[in-house]
Amino acid sequence: MRLLVVCLGNICRSPMAEGVLRARIAASPLAGRVEVDSAGTGDWHVGHAPDPRAVAMAARHHVDISGQRARQFGVVDAGQHDWLLCADTTNLRDVRARLPHQDRARAALLLDWCDGSVAGAEVPDPYTGGEPEFEYAWRLLDTAAQAAVQRLLQLPVSRWRS
Ligand code: 4NP
Repeated sequence: MRLLVVCLGNICRSPMAEGVLRARIAASPLAGRVEVDSAGTGDWHVGHAPDPRAVAMAARHHVDISGQRARQFGVVDAGQHDWLLCADTTNLRDVRARLPHQDRARAALLLDWCDGSVAGAEVPDPYTGGEPEFEYAWRLLDTAAQAAVQRLLQLPVSRWRS
């Protein structure tokens, strides 16, 4: 099973999401069965490390994302991932616009996998904000990561390719 998290720049939300998803999966019965990657719809930061504020927020939660490098989302990603999980509705629209019709249903909002009040909500971009915005994004992403683990654990075995 392969998950791709997508945001705009691939230096704030999706690197934190990749980190917390990896951590939550590693601590679950899914360990070793799910691959996680991230990408951005924009190309401004390709090759860059995550924003230092994102690295610091992850480190505060005992997750090291400093080795990640930004890359741009491409059509090839659709064939390589089972789910394309987007941080906000603009990301989702941009991802779907680049996908062939038959792949569009595999693109979703990251928070759609959660129950309750955050279902269908967006992870706001913390880039122009400060530490509170990064902390809020982290909390949403961790909630989404825990929901993703629960959802994947309930998948029938037939859905698992590896
Ligand atoms: P992200 O945040 O999409 O969460 O990585 C952003 C990072 C950089 C820019 C926008 C959003 N930017 O315009 O450079």
